[in-house]
Amino acid sequence: MTQLKDKDPLGKVIVITSGKGGVGKTTSAAAIAAALAKRGHKTVVIDFDVGLRNLDMIMGCERRVVFDFINVIQGEARLKQALIKDKRLDTLSILPTSQTRDKDALTQDGVEKVLNELKEQFDYIICDSPAGIERGAQLAMYFADEAVVVTNPEVSSVRDSDRVLGLLASKTKRAEDEGTEVKAQVLLTRHDQRRVDAGEMMTIDDVLEILAVPLLGVVPESPAVLRASNVGMPIVLDEPSEASRAYEAAVARLLGEEVDMSMSKEKKPGFFSRLFGAPA
Ligand SMILES: Nc1ncnc2c1ncn2[C@@H]1O[C@H](COP(=O)(O)OP(=O)(O)OP(=O)(O)O)[C@@H](O)[C@H]1O
Ligand SMILES: [Mg+2]
Repeated sequence: MTQLKDKDPLGKVIVITSGKGGVGKTTSAAAIAAALAKRGHKTVVIDFDVGLRNLDMIMGCERRVVFDFINVIQGEARLKQALIKDKRLDTLSILPTSQTRDKDALTQDGVEKVLNELKEQFDYIICDSPAGIERGAQLAMYFADEAVVVTNPEVSSVRDSDRVLGLLASKTKRAEDEGTEVKAQVLLTRHDQRRVDAGEMMTIDDVLEILAVPLLGVVPESPAVLRASNVGMPIVLDEPSEASRAYEAAVARLLGEEVDMSMSKEKKPGFFSRLFGAPA
């Protein structure tokens, strides 16, 4: 009897979540998806933030949205009609969400159906979660295989990330059906060494001590992020910057490569801060 060839493995679902709002989830989802696609992995990034719809703007495809995630869930459009192929990378697609519907339009069954269909076509499915720990955020993480918890080095963000880690350990399909945890890693964003030195921000070690999950990367505070988002460019497709290098390194680690963290680790105070002391 001829051996059946193994079917291609299904795509991996990765949620980008945080609890606290405005910490850099959408920026990170766009950057991570684009960096995976740049490496040749077929990747789709989905906007779970129903009603706000920022992802398509950061990805630069807001004028191309005709149908969305909610239309597909409600049976008003087929997945193929709602997926937008990126113009820069043919391995990258975007599934935008609706700006007018409310969050109740997302149903667990509907989300599962769409994700299952996407898993057949893509290697990576990146879910951009809304802020908070309510329904929308819980649905974004429910079917995840892995999680990237975006955290800023400040107390309120770390506290919310800690709550999200609790949900990832209990309120996901993996936890409920198999008793296994979703693998979670922290992506520290908007890190500003000068403010850490001035005692205004938490150190990387302080954050990791509280959250007690592995560090995926450290993205510095950088004007390049805002500049890129204003022109609808995921940061890793824009001109090289410290922030784009940090995201590329984080994605290499996500894929299991060993990348030295020293580039982004806390540096010794620079010449000027040693000379004049850290700014107050
Ligand atoms: N590393 C960074 N350096 C400078 N600005 C940044 C950085 N990361 C994100 N930002 C800025 O922070 C703001 C919020 O980012 P973003 O929209 O990605 O956050 P979010 O977590 O998705 O927010 P929400 O919870 O509202 O969905 C944006 O103006 C973005 O440009
Ligand atoms: Mg967002």
